[in-house]
Amino acid sequence: MGSGITQVAAQAGHEVVLVDLNQAVLDKAKSNLEKVLSKLVEKEKISAAEATQIQNRLVYSSATADFKECGIIIEAIVENIAVKHTVFKELEAIVSDSCILASNTSSLPIASIGSALQNPSRIIGIHFFNPAPLMPLVEIIPAVQTAPAVVEQAKQLIDSWKKVTVLCKDTPGFIVNRVARPFYGEALRIYEEGIADFATIDWALTEIGGFRMGPFTLMDYIGNDINYTVTESVFAAFYYDPRFKPSFTQKRHFEAGFLGRKSGRGYYNYAEGAVQPEPTKDVQLGQQIVDRVLVMLINEAIDALFLNIASKQDIDLAMTKGVNYPKGLLAWAEEKTLPWVLAQLENLFEEYGEDRYRPNPLLKRLVKQGATQF
Ligand SMILES: NC(=O)c1ccc[n+]([C@@H]2O[C@H](COP(=O)([O-])OP(=O)(O)OC[C@H]3O[C@@H](n4cnc5c(N)ncnc54)[C@H](O)[C@@H]3O)[C@@H](O)[C@H]2O)c1
Repeated sequence: MGSGITQVAAQAGHEVVLVDLNQAVLDKAKSNLEKVLSKLVEKEKISAAEATQIQNRLVYSSATADFKECGIIIEAIVENIAVKHTVFKELEAIVSDSCILASNTSSLPIASIGSALQNPSRIIGIHFFNPAPLMPLVEIIPAVQTAPAVVEQAKQLIDSWKKVTVLCKDTPGFIVNRVARPFYGEALRIYEEGIADFATIDWALTEIGGFRMGPFTLMDYIGNDINYTVTESVFAAFYYDPRFKPSFTQKRHFEAGFLGRKSGRGYYNYAEGAVQPEPTKDVQLGQQIVDRVLVMLINEAIDALFLNIASKQDIDLAMTKGVNYPKGLLAWAEEKTLPWVLAQLENLFEEYGEDRYRPNPLLKRLVKQGATQF
């Protein structure tokens, strides 16, 4: 992630210092960036002179002391709170008083990272999506300690890098990794109940639902180890709210080493010549699958709105720009109508009696009031 963020900042005209403890990582970052820039020149997106200027703005270093003159540092090191605390203390001792200290963490609380600082009002979460140069979304996450001016400066800076920024509260999974959980979880549950196989669920969500990739294909891309770990950490961070309960199917795939594309096998087999399973193209079944996953996603988006995690606009932007959903989930709910969404959830809740299907109070309230929008 660090080298991707470096590319974005350098292309936006900044002088950037990329620090990594590992020289091999720095060498790889440098040669990758050279390749990316020469491709951009080939495609005439930038001139050869610009590519050279971008390279000249970059310093690759293994010494944290080289951050001395920086106005902002975006940390993207190992996801371990103890290591982050040590590094942030070290950084604060080097930089100026006005330097913003940001973290690209996906799962650690920004408040906790900031607690290591003498001046925690300069901490902020700036969460990019992978690959950072291609994915437009950046979540900006102020901690309880963050000064309002730091939020404003960070947002303005990242906006000036032509990214789409959304503001969200310092809660587990921020917006995207919280709201997207049912895309995987409900698809796995549908499979576990024997309603449909992986290929059919993927077919339904892409062909009927309009999602760019089906959940099983996507989990195989992300890696079942990574996706399972995020699910488990969100589940634990929400004090084991049953809505976020991980799936045994995914855990067993992870344990078996069926990690996805990177291991040659996940839900699908990626060996050369492997025959891919055919979906059952039953439109009625497909629509049932789409409706069930969609209302679960919508319920999660409504919960984020209900608890003021982010604005309506930012919740929808996050899902379209961060994970390429075909529509914002709240806009989608309005299109399907709020009573329809509530009825679907109530049916599921009534059928299963499980807390994971409970309709959000905001949805119930709005339907009672006859509202058509959030
Ligand atoms: N990979 C993703 O899709 C993704 C997306 C968004 C956010 N993130 C977050 O970004 C951070 C990095 O993730 P990643 O996937 O790039 O990890 P990674 O393991 O690929 O890279 C981490 C790098 O940090 C270096 N490092 C470790 N300790 C260091 C230290 N003390 N000082 C300097 N360098 C050090 C390592 O050598 C390594 O090159 C994590 O906090 C992660 O949660 C990752």
